[in-house]
Amino acid sequence: MHFTLQKKDEKTKARAGELKTDHGTIQTPIFMPVGTAGTVKGVHQHELDKEINAQIILGNTYHLYLKPGLEVIEGAGGLHKFNGWNKPILTDSGGYQVYSLSGQRKIKEAGVKFQSHHDGSYHFFTPERAIDIQRTIGADIIMAFDECTPYPCDYAYAKKSMHMTHRWLKRCFDQMDRTAPKYGYEQALFPIVQGSVYEDLRERSAEKIASFDAVGNAIGGLSVGEPDEELYKATDLVCGILPEEKPRYLMGVGTPVNILECIALGVDMFDCVMPTRNARHGMLFTSEGIINIKNKKWEMDFSPLDPNGTATVDQVYSKSYVRHLIRSNEFLGFQIASIHNLAFYLALVTEARTRILDGTFSEWKDKMVVKLANRL
Ligand code: GUN
Repeated sequence: MHFTLQKKDEKTKARAGELKTDHGTIQTPIFMPVGTAGTVKGVHQHELDKEINAQIILGNTYHLYLKPGLEVIEGAGGLHKFNGWNKPILTDSGGYQVYSLSGQRKIKEAGVKFQSHHDGSYHFFTPERAIDIQRTIGADIIMAFDECTPYPCDYAYAKKSMHMTHRWLKRCFDQMDRTAPKYGYEQALFPIVQGSVYEDLRERSAEKIASFDAVGNAIGGLSVGEPDEELYKATDLVCGILPEEKPRYLMGVGTPVNILECIALGVDMFDCVMPTRNARHGMLFTSEGIINIKNKKWEMDFSPLDPNGTATVDQVYSKSYVRHLIRSNEFLGFQIASIHNLAFYLALVTEARTRILDGTFSEWKDKMVVKLANRL
C-alpha cells in the first residue's frame, strides 16, 4: 500500500493524494460510507459504485464478529467476497463500538470485556484479538484497538487512557508481525491518536503515533460531543505533527462543513454515519443547505429532489414524493435519501480534490461552508 502526495494547497493545509491498495486506488481527500454490518444500510454495492462513486467503504469489527461471525466470513473468503464489494474496505477495530454500543463493559490493561448488544452474551477483545479478527474479515486497511474517550473527559482519565492506547498499539503491531494476511492481499494497520481535547496529550499522542511509521495514521476521540472549535483545534495540532507523506484519517467526522474545514487542516480521509443515519430521518444535505424533507413546506413541491445532485435519484424523484415515502416509513424513501446524501458527500470531496489540484480550493471552501450550514 502506498500513498502519493500529489498537491499541497498554497493558501490552506489541504492536500490531494492517491492511496494505492490491492483492491484499487483511492483518490484523496475521500469520504468513506459506513457499512457497519457489511452493508451500507439500504444501498446496493452497484449503487455505491456507479451512483455514489464510493471508492472505499467501512465495516465494523464489533458487528461482524458478533454477526454473522468469523466462521461465515472466513468461509466466504473474506468480507470482499462475502458482500460483493471488490474495491477497498477499511474496518474499525471495535475500540469505539464496544464503548458506544455494548451494555456492560470492563476496560483493563489486558483488554475489554463486553456484553453483546444482541443477546447479552459476554466477549473479550484484546489488541491481539482485534488484529486476528480483522485478519479474518480481511479489510485492506485495519485499525488499531484503542479507547475512544468520551466528552467531556477529565485530564487524569484522558492521560491514563491515552497511555494505555499507546501500549495497546505496540501489541497490535506485534500481532501484525506475528500473523499474515489470509486472502493474499496486503493489509495496513493505521494507529489512532487519542488525548481528548488536551493539547499536551494530543501532542504527545501524535508524536507517539508518528514514531510507529505506519502506512497511514488516524485521529480518534473527536466528534464525540465537543464544540467544533475543539474539533478543529485538535485536528490542526495533530495534523501538524503527523508525517506529511502519510494519509491522515479523521474518524467519525462529520457534517459537510466539518469535512471541508478539516480538509483545509490537512485531513485526507473521513467516515461518518451522518449521511445515512440522517437520511433515514429525512435530513438531506444539498449544495444549497440542509433540508428536512418531512416538512410540510415540501408537500406540493414537485421539483427534482436535488437539481444539482449527481445521482439518478436526484432527478427522477420529486421532493414531494420523497417526503411522502419517508413520512410513510417506506423502504424506498430511506434508500433514495441515503443514496442522495452519500452521493452528495462524495461529490463534495471530489470537488474539494479538483479545487485543490487547480488551486481554487480556499475561496470555494469559504463560500461552501456558508451555503452548507443553511437550513432550507
Ligand atoms: N470512530 C470514531 N472515533 C473513533 C475512535 O476514537 N476510535 C475508533 N477505534 N473508532 C472511532
